[in-house]
Amino acid sequence: MSRFFDLVSKPAREMSSALPFLAARHEFERPLIKLDSNENPFGPSPRALEAIGNALATSNLYPDDDCRPLRLKLAAHHGLPPEQVLVTAGSTAMLALLCQTLLGPGLNAVTSERSFIVYSMAVHATGAQLVEVPMRDDTYDLGAILRAIDANTRIIFLANPNNPTGTMVPAQAVEWFLGQVPGHLVVVLDEAYYEFASHFARLRQVTYSNSLEYVARGASVVVLRTFSKAHGLAGLRVGYGLGPAELLGYCARMRNTYSVPSVAQAAAMEALEDTEYTAQVAESNAVQARLLARELEGLGYRIAPTSANFLYCDTGEDAAGFAGRLREEGVAVRPLGGWGAPNCIRVTIGTPEQNDIFVRALRRVGVVPDRRGPAAARFGG
Ligand SMILES: Cc1ncc(COP(=O)(O)O)c(C=O)c1O
Repeated sequence: MSRFFDLVSKPAREMSSALPFLAARHEFERPLIKLDSNENPFGPSPRALEAIGNALATSNLYPDDDCRPLRLKLAAHHGLPPEQVLVTAGSTAMLALLCQTLLGPGLNAVTSERSFIVYSMAVHATGAQLVEVPMRDDTYDLGAILRAIDANTRIIFLANPNNPTGTMVPAQAVEWFLGQVPGHLVVVLDEAYYEFASHFARLRQVTYSNSLEYVARGASVVVLRTFSKAHGLAGLRVGYGLGPAELLGYCARMRNTYSVPSVAQAAAMEALEDTEYTAQVAESNAVQARLLARELEGLGYRIAPTSANFLYCDTGEDAAGFAGRLREEGVAVRPLGGWGAPNCIRVTIGTPEQNDIFVRALRRVGVVPDRRGPAAARFGG
């Protein structure tokens, strides 16, 4: 067959190399308005930028492998002992560590369909299986997840809010769910969009998350947070897990040495303190989400209610072609065929200017709503 096919591990051989998350990036061909990866359109906070500048001068030195100052700061910030915090190169690295630590051939993890694509990658890299249950109303069906658990299940992934649908499972439902889950399982509560979701929840007067309480009482739960979203540091790769000290200790053994750059650690320290900045980002996001949803619905598109910094939109046609036409207009959005939603796109909520350009482009390239197919009715419209 080929030189290395028989030599590489079974998971490396069997994993798909065409995952949509890593699809070829054409952004460099011309400047695009990037509304395809849920990044912060405003950039890092000025305080983080200053810290980055200062930290560059010591880039000749290896970073603190334990990320100790940041770990201590996060522990104090969340009211947890430092042993219950593990800093990693983005929260995806924490996901990979959990999978390497808890999974292997013959074991499985359970999540929902149309959820974060890295769950599949991280699970399959260990030779384990990922069981994906159907959604209900574009959100997690917790009952279906419970029914999918078997003796070989070790992890449950709950992206809250979910990527790509943006939908949120309220705290009450999560609490009920945790009460039903067998004790030997680890439930990963992936709160990458925490700052946006808690802002939306305040506006809507609902309780989004009590996840830190579960961690504080030693539940078999790992909460994931990241500096990639509201803090605007996606390019620096820094995130963390909060969970049982013993489990995080095992995960720490599996970590790559020096995996979180010193510049990233310094930036995160300042970003965490700049609460004024993250509050402004979350506020703008909520305002723009409302305006953008109104525009899209006004054009006849169906939108799922978002608690994150992106909208899940049914285009009523082949989303890849739709996204291709938008790209011609200079706007990148994410078509969701690879997530099993061939008519849907995910569009990041940008700055007011970016959103304006997106809507104008949409008016030029979108199909007239009343010509759209029955798939548009999926959101009940
Ligand atoms: C649900 C979810 N979890 C985690 C991440 C990854 O974040 P990080 O950049 O910290 O690896 C993302 C990024 O898109 C996400 O959508």
